[in-house]
Amino acid sequence: MEDTLINGQIEKNKKNIEQILEYIYDKTKFDFREYKHSTAFRRISRRFYYCEVDNFSQYFDYIIKNYMECLRLVNDLLISVTEFFRDREQWRFLYEKYLPEILQIKENKDCVRVWCAGCASGEEAYSLAIILEEIIEKYRLKNEYKIIATDIAVSHIYRAQSGIYKKESLKNLPFEFIREKYFSTDNDFIIIKKEIKKRIEFKFHSLTDNNFFPSQDLIICRNTLIYFTRKLQARIIKGFCDCLDKNGALWLGKAENIFKEYELRFKFIDPINKFFIYGR
Ligand SMILES: C[S@@+](CC[C@H](N)C(=O)[O-])C[C@H]1O[C@@H](n2cnc3c(N)ncnc32)[C@H](O)[C@@H]1O
Repeated sequence: MEDTLINGQIEKNKKNIEQILEYIYDKTKFDFREYKHSTAFRRISRRFYYCEVDNFSQYFDYIIKNYMECLRLVNDLLISVTEFFRDREQWRFLYEKYLPEILQIKENKDCVRVWCAGCASGEEAYSLAIILEEIIEKYRLKNEYKIIATDIAVSHIYRAQSGIYKKESLKNLPFEFIREKYFSTDNDFIIIKKEIKKRIEFKFHSLTDNNFFPSQDLIICRNTLIYFTRKLQARIIKGFCDCLDKNGALWLGKAENIFKEYELRFKFIDPINKFFIYGR
C-alpha cells in the first residue's frame, strides 16, 4: 500500500525530478540522470524541510537561486554508507575460498589486480588489502597485487586516502588481532598503517563514463549499482565483463544481481550461500 502511494508520487513528480537531475548535471557535471527516480525522490523530499519548500517545483526554483543547495543535494544523492568488512560472511568466503585460489594460480606469474568501484571512504578497499596480506602470509605466497579503488565523489576519495577513521568504525572486525596489526591509534581515531595504505591507489572515476580498468581478477562493486536504472546497471555490468581476466570474478552487493543476458558469461561460484560472486 505504502509502495503504491510512493510510486504514484514519483510518477506525479517525474518531470520535476528529471528537471532537477538535468539541472544538477548542467551545473555540476554530476550525472544522476540514470539513477533510479525512487532514490532521487526520497533524497530530494528530505531537502524540503531545510529549504522551507513544499513541493518539487518549488524546490527546483530554490536550487536555481541557491547553488550551495544544489551541492548539498549532490552530496545527499551520493549515498556514502560503508564499513570495514561489511557483510562478514561474504568476506569469509573471499578469504577462505576465492582469493587463495586466485593467488595460487597467479603466483610467480602475474600481479593480481582488483578494482573496487564505488569505494566510498575506503573501508572496503582497506578490508580487501588486509585480507590479501593475511592470505599471502598464511600460505607463504609471493604474490604481487594491485588494488585500484574508485569513486565519483572527490570528498570520499580524500577521506579514503587519509586512512583515518573513528575508533567505533572497527566494531565489526572478523578477527580481533587485525586491530593491532594493521591500525595505529590516536585518541578517538584509528589510522591505517603505511604498509597497507601504499597498497591501494585511490582515484576519482565515474561508472557512468564508459572508461573502465582492464585485466582485473576481481571487481568489487557493492551497494552502488542498486541506485542506478536497470539500463545503466546493464551497461556497467557489460563493461565489467569486458574488464575481467580469465577466471576473474565480479562481487556485487547482497541486493544486486547480474541480468539474464550475462548469465552465460558467469558461473555462480557459491550457489548454496548465494554469494554474489561470479566467475567466467
Ligand atoms: C553506498 S556506497 C557503497 C560503498 C561500498 N562499496 C560498500 O558497499 O560498503 C556507494 C558509493 O558509490 C559512489 N557512487 C555513486 N555513483 C557513482 C558513480 N556514477 N561512479 C562511481 N561511484 C559512484 C558514491 O559516491 C558512494 O561512495
